[in-house]
Amino acid sequence: MSAMASLLFHLLCCLTVFWLLPLPSHSADPDPLQDFCVANLSASISVNGFPCKPASEVTSDDFFFDGFTQEGNTTNAFASFLTPGNVLSFPGLNTLGISMNRVDFAPGGINPPHSHPRASEVGVVIEGKLLVGFVTTNNVYYSKVLTAGHMFTIPRGLVHFQLNVGDGKALAYTAFNSHLPGAAIVPLNLFASSIPNEVLTKTFQVDAELINTIKSKFRP
Ligand code: GLV
Ligand code: MN
Repeated sequence: MSAMASLLFHLLCCLTVFWLLPLPSHSADPDPLQDFCVANLSASISVNGFPCKPASEVTSDDFFFDGFTQEGNTTNAFASFLTPGNVLSFPGLNTLGISMNRVDFAPGGINPPHSHPRASEVGVVIEGKLLVGFVTTNNVYYSKVLTAGHMFTIPRGLVHFQLNVGDGKALAYTAFNSHLPGAAIVPLNLFASSIPNEVLTKTFQVDAELINTIKSKFRP
């Protein structure tokens, strides 16, 4: 290969890589390759998503979900309850790149700071008054108090929360561009995991007693 041909070849390779690189960051879950792929949650092989139930065994029920008909039980420390409608509870969502949650709040209830590693979020308030906020990677805080009919969005991966600031109950539905967005719940990640106390005392610059007090709040 001549020097010129080799240069052109390398240039072409670089251009191809630069052209392909941004593609994954423009999407969430990959597009489905078939009409549907109802998840077989008990399959023994593991893939990125779930294998499909044989089409001959698929019924209408696979495409409907009644998990949002009941109010969540908010008798817990956060006074809120999140009912997931993702591929695990609604296998018909497998590979479709979408899912939803129902989130119930008692007065004063909070859906604590958390992030979704695999999806952006949109939500709509159905009842009550919610303070909805998120923080950027530059620690800039955006928030608003929303009432019924108001929508919000949370960019993918950013830490966010909802706090019921009304006098009564509140209800919101959220939706995601992933069949399983995942949720890293900040207080549980830090204080309900086995991260050593030394990491936490040094990170928060407090003593072990305070860390243990916080940890005790998250023990079952
Ligand atoms: C709300 O933030 C949710 O993840 O459903
Ligand atoms: Mn969320």
